[in-house]
Amino acid sequence: MLPLVDRSSRNASPMRPGFASTASYKIDNMSVADELHPTIHAGRVAVITGAASGIGRAAAIELAKIGLKVAIADVQQDGLQAVGKELAAIVGEVNVLVVPTDVSKLEEVVRLRDKVYEAWGEVAVLMNNAGVGIKGTSWTELENWHKIFDVNLFGVLNVQQTFAPAMIHQENTAMIINTGSKQGITNPPGNAAYNASKAAVKSLTECLAHELRELPGCNVTAHLFIPGWTFTSIGGNDGTRPKPTGAWTAEETVLYMLDKVRAGDFYVLVPDNETKRQVDQLRIMWAAADIAEGRPALSRWHPNYKALFEEYMREGLAQLE
Ligand SMILES: NC(=O)c1ccc[n+]([C@@H]2O[C@H](COP(=O)([O-])OP(=O)(O)OC[C@H]3O[C@@H](n4cnc5c(N)ncnc54)[C@H](O)[C@@H]3O)[C@@H](O)[C@H]2O)c1
Repeated sequence: MLPLVDRSSRNASPMRPGFASTASYKIDNMSVADELHPTIHAGRVAVITGAASGIGRAAAIELAKIGLKVAIADVQQDGLQAVGKELAAIVGEVNVLVVPTDVSKLEEVVRLRDKVYEAWGEVAVLMNNAGVGIKGTSWTELENWHKIFDVNLFGVLNVQQTFAPAMIHQENTAMIINTGSKQGITNPPGNAAYNASKAAVKSLTECLAHELRELPGCNVTAHLFIPGWTFTSIGGNDGTRPKPTGAWTAEETVLYMLDKVRAGDFYVLVPDNETKRQVDQLRIMWAAADIAEGRPALSRWHPNYKALFEEYMREGLAQLE
């Protein structure tokens, strides 16, 4: 049976309609077979930052199951060692590298790259996923703004700038997957610092994709991974409560992402049990139309636009479904 909408789960509101039509994402739903893909393929190499927990850990496990060699990096040393053991049990100890790394420190990222190339000589899948969700509002918590940008933007940039020059000289195909957020696209009120850092990741990754595409003979593609609500520590899992109905597990989010990058998608906009793709589509178009139509900033949350936005969503969903 499909999960029912839990309207009490998070920010329940008519502006955030729930739905009951997205099945959990399981391996059986996937459209591109592992053995057909040149990059996500047994024997090739994955590097994943932020792999000690959540989405990064789930990605490491899924890629190890396919048979990739996996290098994992994180600041949480104990968690990282534990994931290393899980991976070794799946793909064998010689195919796992555990490299404690703070992505905000360039020298540690350089060390990570050197270890991976020394061991395996290539990188097929670079998952630039480490992130923090600490809070900064528009005129407070300046220190947190620096911390969040150091990891969410400069961490991603350190990894991209360190690995991309080596990856573009490889003969085989490869991909760089940067983890953004819907908050970096539709900019919902609540955490201006996080939203701004993820908006920067969107911009950075779009430019990366273009630059790689324009480079003659380049076999590297870029992808912007935009998770839905995923039950991890950033997604509200403090270890004290079960997964809310609206959230996906990290495994579901990762399986969906792998399916879409295998199919060649640049924007990997992941749904969850609360927000289906059509709802995201309409919200993104509404946000863009704020600029095109000269409406107030974030009009989706402006009292004068409440009724109009609700009508837009109702009509839009009726057309899309
Ligand atoms: N969970 C969600 O609903 C959601 C939604 C959209 C985007 N995201 C993004 O997904 C990514 C993964 O987050 P998650 O949900 O798995 O949360 P998570 O907290 O479980 O994982 C984030 C990991 O990044 C690591 N990390 C933090 N700072 C680091 C640093 N300086 N260097 C190396 N590693 C560092 C953490 O230790 C942690 O293991 C993040 O970029 C996050 O912003 C998550």
